Amino acid sequence: MGKINRQIQNFAPALVRWQKEYGRNHLPWQAYTTPYERWVSEIMLQQTRVNKVIRYFTRFIQRFPTIESLASAHEDEVLHVWAGLGYYSRARNLHKTAQMIVRRGSFPQTAKELSQYPGIGLSTAGAITSSCWQERAVMCDANAKRVLCRYFGREGFLGESQLDKKLWHLARKLLPESARMSSYNQGLMDLGAMICIKQTPRCQRCPVHMFCQAYRTGNPQQYGNKKPTTKQAERSVHMVFVRMPKGWVFQKKRDAGVWKGLWLPILLQDIASHPWETLGLQARKVLHYQKDTLFAHDFSHYRLWITPHYLLLARNVDWEGWTVISDADLESIGYPAPVKKLLQHYLH
Ligand code: ADE
Repeated sequence: MGKINRQIQNFAPALVRWQKEYGRNHLPWQAYTTPYERWVSEIMLQQTRVNKVIRYFTRFIQRFPTIESLASAHEDEVLHVWAGLGYYSRARNLHKTAQMIVRRGSFPQTAKELSQYPGIGLSTAGAITSSCWQERAVMCDANAKRVLCRYFGREGFLGESQLDKKLWHLARKLLPESARMSSYNQGLMDLGAMICIKQTPRCQRCPVHMFCQAYRTGNPQQYGNKKPTTKQAERSVHMVFVRMPKGWVFQKKRDAGVWKGLWLPILLQDIASHPWETLGLQARKVLHYQKDTLFAHDFSHYRLWITPHYLLLARNVDWEGWTVISDADLESIGYPAPVKKLLQHYLH
């Protein structure tokens, strides 16, 4: 038997056995096998932790004990009872779907049908129908995806569509033929929440670690992560290219920093009104001025926003500490990529 088949065969039986003994079997919504309560709980559990949901679930079911009572409530009241849980489109969709299902006359019994209603994705639908009717339906939420990425050693970031397709495919393959589907899908959620956690997976306690690809690499945390969203640091600068009859005004950067040793035009943090005023030049000496479009230059650790300016002067001006470089000499000195690009632009 191939390695992947062995992984697939061993997964569900071990997971189900583990769920019954170590999983969560006393959450308030698990007291129900009726679809209304399971649906409400699954919607609340989207993007929200179990501990927080418990209080809200109990209160919501007390206030709206049946799908009919929810359907006939005013939307404002539904939102009021939901207040504090966040992501309010969930409450509006819950209300809308309740009205649609009441009008239809019965609760949809397959994940495929249920997933057609507002706010219910295929994974949520699978969690509901497997827990109420043991439907052999896939539950593949963010935690389950992390588990699968690790178990099969799939690289890439969660949320990338190619990886997502592969994970859904694997999730379908893993579905057990005969085990209780409610315990299987609950087991997958429990494993993701209790064992195969993001930062410090507890592999020694995992019922399937012997077949887990990420465990074998010794670095399971590397798998099943979202793309980091750390906001890049940003800076900005005005880059002023001054040209006079003898050539271009440049200076070699001597202090430390990313461009140390390269030749740069005049860099200004702020420009009061016109760049020539900031530079102490009289307007009548300026033959031509243009300000060009802002663009970004990325360093590994920050993004630099550059605003280019071009100033053509009628006469040569002496600036202490600055060098005038003729067109011919421009070829023989080094400057950073964005400076080179802008020079080419201004030369042609
Ligand atoms: N997260 C999403 N659905 C859940 C459930 N039924 N039990 C525990 N955590 C969950």
